[in-house]
Amino acid sequence: MENKKILVLGGAGYIGAHVVSELLKKQYKVLVYDNMSTGQKENLFDKAEFINADILDVSALEKAMDGVDAVIFFAGKKAVGESMLNPELYARNNLVGAVNVLNTMCAKGIKNIIFSSSAAVYGIPQYVPVDEKHPLNPINFYGFTKLETERLLEWYDKLKGIKYAALRYFNAAGYDPDGRVKGREQNPQNLLPIIAEVADGKRKCLQVFGTDYDTPDGTCLRDYIHVNDLATAHVLALEALLDGHDSMTLNLGTGKGVSVKEIVAAAEKFLGRKLPVEYAPRRPGDPAILYAKADRAKQVLGWQPKFVNVDEVVSSFLKKH
Ligand SMILES: NC(=O)c1ccc[n+]([C@@H]2O[C@H](COP(=O)([O-])OP(=O)(O)OC[C@H]3O[C@@H](n4cnc5c(N)ncnc54)[C@H](O)[C@@H]3O)[C@@H](O)[C@H]2O)c1
Repeated sequence: MENKKILVLGGAGYIGAHVVSELLKKQYKVLVYDNMSTGQKENLFDKAEFINADILDVSALEKAMDGVDAVIFFAGKKAVGESMLNPELYARNNLVGAVNVLNTMCAKGIKNIIFSSSAAVYGIPQYVPVDEKHPLNPINFYGFTKLETERLLEWYDKLKGIKYAALRYFNAAGYDPDGRVKGREQNPQNLLPIIAEVADGKRKCLQVFGTDYDTPDGTCLRDYIHVNDLATAHVLALEALLDGHDSMTLNLGTGKGVSVKEIVAAAEKFLGRKLPVEYAPRRPGDPAILYAKADRAKQVLGWQPKFVNVDEVVSSFLKKH
C-alpha cells in the first residue's frame, strides 16, 4: 500500500490528525485538505502535503483529487447545538460539501471513501448496546446531515460503484499518548476537552447536566473511544476497501458505558486535585445511556480497541506534551 495516495479532507482536525499520523506511520502518501475553520496548524505534519481549501470549492477539490487512490472525509461541522440554531451552515458545509466530494470523486474516477459518521444517526437509543441495525432516527440536524450523507454513499455505491466505509464514532476521546498530535480543540463542546479547560483555569467550572438518571451514579453513560483506536480502524477500513472489500457501515466504540462522574473522578485522580463542578438540570435530548455494540467492526476489520481503561483515556487527554 506504500505507493497509495490518500486525500484526507479535514486532516488538520482532532481525529483527522490522528489518522494522518497513522497513515504516515504506514508509509502512505498523504495530502491534507482543510479550510482551517477548526483545524490547527500544530496538527500538520511535515511529511504530509497540505492544501488550505474548502470542500465547497469544487475546482480546488478537482485539483486535489488528481492521482488520489482514496479519500478520507472528516471535513465537517460537528456541534450539535449549533446545528439546531444554524441548519443552513450545516446543510451547506456537511451536505453540499458531501455532494461536492462524491461528485468530484466520480469525475476523477476515485472509488474508495471513508466517511466520519456518528452515533447521532441513531437518535435516542431504543436499546443498548446500540448495534448497526438499531433504527435510524436522528434528533438533531447534525445527526440528520450524517444520516443523509450515509444515504448518499449508498446511492453512489449502487449507481457509480463507489465503495465506502461509513464509520459511526461514539464519543471520540484521548490524545495520542506519543504526543504526535499537538493541537488542542478551540471552543470545545465535549466533556473531556471541557475538563481540560477547567483544569487549565480557562473555564471556571465544569457543568454536569443531570444527576438523577436511572444509572448507577445518576449521571449519563457514554462510550468513550480513544482516538488512536479510531485511527487504527480507519487504516484497517482503508486497506479493506483498497483490497476490494465491499462497502461497510460500522460502529466504532468500546462497547462499554462510562459515567460522567467516573470521567471526572479519573481526571481528578490524574491531576491530583478536585475540579470545580456544578451540578445542573438535565439537558433536553441527552439520552441516559448510550454505548455501542462494536462486534461488526471486530468481525469485518479484525479491529479491537486497545484503550479500554478510563484512566488511560483520560490521562492521555490531560497530559501536557
Ligand atoms: N469528535 C467526535 O467525538 C466525533 C464523533 C462522531 C463523528 N465525528 C465526526 O468526525 C469528523 C471529525 O471530527 P473532529 O472531532 O476531528 O472535528 P474537527 O472540527 O477537529 O475536525 C474537522 C476538520 O474539518 C475541517 N473542515 C470543516 N469544514 C470544512 C470545509 N468546508 N472544507 C475543508 N475543511 C473543513 C476543519 O477545519 C477541521 O480541521 C467530523 O465530521 C465529525 O462530525 C466526530
